[in-house]
Amino acid sequence: MTSIPAETLSQSIRADQTFLQSILTGLQAEQKTIDSKWLYDPKGSHLFDQITELDAYYPTRTEIEILERGLGELAPQIRPGTALMELGSGSSVKTRLVFEHIPGLSTYVPVDISESHLLAAAADLARDYPLIEMRPIVGDFTSDISLPKDLSNVPKLLFFPGSTIGNFEPEGAVELLTRCRQIERVDDFIVGFDLVKDPCTLVRAYDDELGVTAAFNLNLLVRINRELGADFETAAFRHEARWNKRDSRIEMHLVSKRSQTVGIAGKRIQFSQGETIHTENSHKYTTDRFSDLAGQAGWSVGEIWTDEQDLFAVALLKPE
Ligand code: AVJ
Repeated sequence: MTSIPAETLSQSIRADQTFLQSILTGLQAEQKTIDSKWLYDPKGSHLFDQITELDAYYPTRTEIEILERGLGELAPQIRPGTALMELGSGSSVKTRLVFEHIPGLSTYVPVDISESHLLAAAADLARDYPLIEMRPIVGDFTSDISLPKDLSNVPKLLFFPGSTIGNFEPEGAVELLTRCRQIERVDDFIVGFDLVKDPCTLVRAYDDELGVTAAFNLNLLVRINRELGADFETAAFRHEARWNKRDSRIEMHLVSKRSQTVGIAGKRIQFSQGETIHTENSHKYTTDRFSDLAGQAGWSVGEIWTDEQDLFAVALLKPE
């Protein structure tokens, strides 16, 4: 197999220290929280891939269907030699769609926090697309998106699929979109976002009957035990998905089944029965509300593609 060296974002700090600090700060807050980016260790990434294949989880297949129709329209506008830069590279299915529909891409720059996932995906693509230079970048795009210098002058197509933007609170989403706006030489930006719909469909998508999403959520505790030496008893917590109407988002929580104390890095964390750790937000937008956020970040909104049932949307943004 081709082995592709990973680069790192220039300002990346020591990752494990950040993990411990982030977990301790979150668990010592009034409403206990864990940042959802920590869901994606190798096991979590694998579970997420399984989620995307569930009947109840409509976003992935719907976005793929939308991209299949939309990318052909976009292709003539993309200049030859453009680099495809993808935030949170995830599964390579969508990337392949872009490669297939937009010929003449010179480079692929996936940015992801999970090194193993990133390198496996890049090696996989390298086999099938030998003419595209693979430049995987290990890093946390939520805090830093500066690129290796030699890429700054290459025209770019930015790709942020999957509705990962929905993980951020609206202010954080504007901040991230603003930082994307500062990347040099971006001609076009493709962003996927999930649409507001009936709460039943939403809750089912985040609490599937096979329990894959529950395992995905609970894996956070397994990871914290393994990597930070904590003593969470995973059976004493259960997964919950809630629709928060006011903030227009699905929330994932881990609910403590009883009162208990958990040890982590010399600290004792106290849980009462029913107390939760808030582990993820997945914001749902209307096309108007999303356009408003993109506008605040300095992007002009071109087309917004949706599916027939208005489940999901993909926006085409251009620098203003
Ligand atoms: C990867 C952030 C898009 O919010 O739908 C799926 C993550 N969490 N099921 C989403 C997720 C639970 C997913 N994103």
